Amino acid sequence: MNNFETLRKRAIGDISEEDVTQIADFMNNLLANEYALFTKALNYHWNITGPRFNSLHQFLEDSYKNLLIIMDETAERIRVLGETPMGTVEKFNSTMKLKEHNAQNLSSSQMLADMLESNLIIQNDIKGFLRKEELLRDDPGSEDFLVSTLRKHEDFSWMLKSHLE
Ligand SMILES: [Fe+2]
Repeated sequence: MNNFETLRKRAIGDISEEDVTQIADFMNNLLANEYALFTKALNYHWNITGPRFNSLHQFLEDSYKNLLIIMDETAERIRVLGETPMGTVEKFNSTMKLKEHNAQNLSSSQMLADMLESNLIIQNDIKGFLRKEELLRDDPGSEDFLVSTLRKHEDFSWMLKSHLE
């Protein structure tokens, strides 16, 4: 392959196969956990009860819409890397690490606390991966993407936390 062919193989240009696989694998794990969190927001939106029903039902609708956007951006970043985002419920289920709960057993505050806990796990994962400076040096676009995704999750944690105080 001449230099130009190597460069144009992926939208991000030349990068080692090993590095791009590691970054895409992390992003696929992130995608699976975001999918799980998105599903929690839907589930709780449908099943929430109590005196704060109106505002929390609406807040959870805004949440799943925002999480869908975040998830879509993560999947498309994987395509930009030249890799394949997972796209089946079966694959999400075997990859995600967030634990799910039956909404019938939770109060509205427990639902929000569970979402906060899950969201903090996602933040922690992103921060852990961002510490791999050497790996991300060859892919500053993904580093920037992950920092911006982290910030979106941090904003969400602030909102969840504020409901619980
Ligand atoms: Fe709805």
